[in-house]
Amino acid sequence: MAKARVGVLISGRGSNMAALVEAARADDCPFAIVCVLSDRADAGGLDVAQAAGIPAEHVPPVRGDKAAHESLIDIALARHGVELIALAGYMRILSPAFCAQWAGRLVNIHPSLLPRHPGLDTHARAIAAGDREHGASVHLVTAGVDEGPVLAQARVPVLPGDTPEALAARVLAEEHRLYPRALADYVARRR
Ligand code: GRF
Repeated sequence: MAKARVGVLISGRGSNMAALVEAARADDCPFAIVCVLSDRADAGGLDVAQAAGIPAEHVPPVRGDKAAHESLIDIALARHGVELIALAGYMRILSPAFCAQWAGRLVNIHPSLLPRHPGLDTHARAIAAGDREHGASVHLVTAGVDEGPVLAQARVPVLPGDTPEALAARVLAEEHRLYPRALADYVARRR
């Protein structure tokens, strides 16, 4: 069966994108990463993708015009025949129209056990809240930020004396295992 064609949107270092690219190399992986798009020209992930032989493009924002930027993204996705989008550290909030257009075909990874700690600074917030457990969630994206249905989660303990950085590193290692698995399961279920 043909692999599902996945486009990845990033804004930064792209370590989750790299984990998806690595997983997609396996013959039995049900998805292929066909392009990586970044809203930032300086995203380290663009170089990582290029080095892995994946078409990687900077799609610059259009002076405060979200719809215009998203239509440039759409054009790039169409050019690469993308069927499903994986957000991986993409730092812009997508418009309700874009989310509706890609409904059921737009997934994200978020570094918390949703519905706990949507938004930013999740690791510091988990520590401040006294959480004993923290982690990451792969979820479908809807118009509400970090609100879409959760597909899979990975849990880590919050240890005494944890700093946000130490906790983030523990979660990130789990993200790299979780995202490829959750995406593969989701793609396989949709077939
Ligand atoms: C990850 O923690 C991810 O969960 C969040 O942003 C971070 C991106 O890291 N959405 P990377 O660019 O994948 O290394």
